[in-house]
Amino acid sequence: MNLLVTGGAGYIGSHTAIELIMAGHDVVVVDNLSNSTRAAVSAIETVTGRDVTFFEYDIRNDSRLDEVLACRAFDAVLHFAALKAVGESAAQPLRYYANNVAGTATLLDGMNDYGIKTLVFSSSASVYGDPDTMPIGEDSPPDPKSPYARTKLITENLLHDLHDADPDWRISILRYFNAVGAHPSGRIGEDPSGVPNNLLPFVAQVAVGRRNCLNVFGDDYPTPDGTGIRDYLHVVDLARGHVKALDYLAGAGGVSVHNLGTGRGYSVFEVVHAFEAASGRKVPHRVAARRPGDVAVSWADPSKARDELGWTAEYDLERACEDLWRWQLTHPRGFSTRKA
Ligand code: NAD
Ligand code: UFG
Repeated sequence: MNLLVTGGAGYIGSHTAIELIMAGHDVVVVDNLSNSTRAAVSAIETVTGRDVTFFEYDIRNDSRLDEVLACRAFDAVLHFAALKAVGESAAQPLRYYANNVAGTATLLDGMNDYGIKTLVFSSSASVYGDPDTMPIGEDSPPDPKSPYARTKLITENLLHDLHDADPDWRISILRYFNAVGAHPSGRIGEDPSGVPNNLLPFVAQVAVGRRNCLNVFGDDYPTPDGTGIRDYLHVVDLARGHVKALDYLAGAGGVSVHNLGTGRGYSVFEVVHAFEAASGRKVPHRVAARRPGDVAVSWADPSKARDELGWTAEYDLERACEDLWRWQLTHPRGFSTRKA
């Protein structure tokens, strides 16, 4: 299939582009590089041995988007392009709504003009908020706790409305849990700008000596060791979930919603110990105050994705830590500092 990947220079989009190409698809990437670099696109080409057409455009720019959509007879779009920092979204809600909601509306409008009506959308487990029961199934009522999470839920609603108005649309909404790790080749991985918000990139930067100490945000949660529990999913497993979702859409119309997670939760301390084991390095850490907006526990019931998409996570946390460490060691400052 001819596929357009928005946000394809980013962390999950770039890993997904690799899996799509390996599955025989032709991939075009559009990304404004607001949270990524062109080096990620080169890395996709290195890993796959295939050229990737890349447009450095913002999806909100409709004339630029028109140029992109006209470049191939696209069969589907995988839409990753979004801003994703939860804390920042509380300080800059307009920016988040404009980019994530209005940006998606512009994209959908352009797709409609070109008769492209198949979409895989990157949603988030954050739409569930803080449910009472675990694991979290797709029928758990949404209760987003941040502007970021609300942009995801609003976009989901927009996609349902679009399908109600035009049943030709085929839409897969994937609610990701916590994406971690890097490609096993060591050539591509997450390259956060500034201080990482997320646990694993921060841990890896402490292990490699770039930062001194990890702040563990709270050890007084109602969990066995007091730290927060999450469902950490290897980014390659997550990427492969998109290949499965596309296959599923080929046979199913409508709007589908699937959790992508492992079905297992790990605490912050368990993650630190797993990374120490994988890297052979100590990860100095201290307990700090809770981070506002964090929930105590979150892990997926991934059985719907297993039953309907034929997808199950294959890699465990240990493997994700090993692959992340390989990437971190060879690229201690991300793509700009590749070591031999
Ligand atoms: P990322 O920031 O690495 O990738 C997003 C990419 O989109 C970046 O390369 C950025 O430059 C690009 N982008 C943003 N706005 C754009 C615009 N207006 N026009 C063109 N390009 C634009 O983030 P990621 O971790 O790869 O996340 C990908 C998607 O998955 C996002 O939609 C995110 O909300 C969602 N998600 C991520 C996680 C996670 O654990 N990382 C969890 C749940 C959902
Ligand atoms: N944590 C720390 N110290 C840090 C960073 C994180 O202790 O420096 C803790 C958090 O308190 C939490 C856990 O590590 O208990 C995971 O935190 P992350 O920031 O890595 O991930 P979140 O679960 O907060 O959120 C991530 C993405 C969201 C996405 C969500 C999906 O950032 O965009 O996963 O479940 F929606």
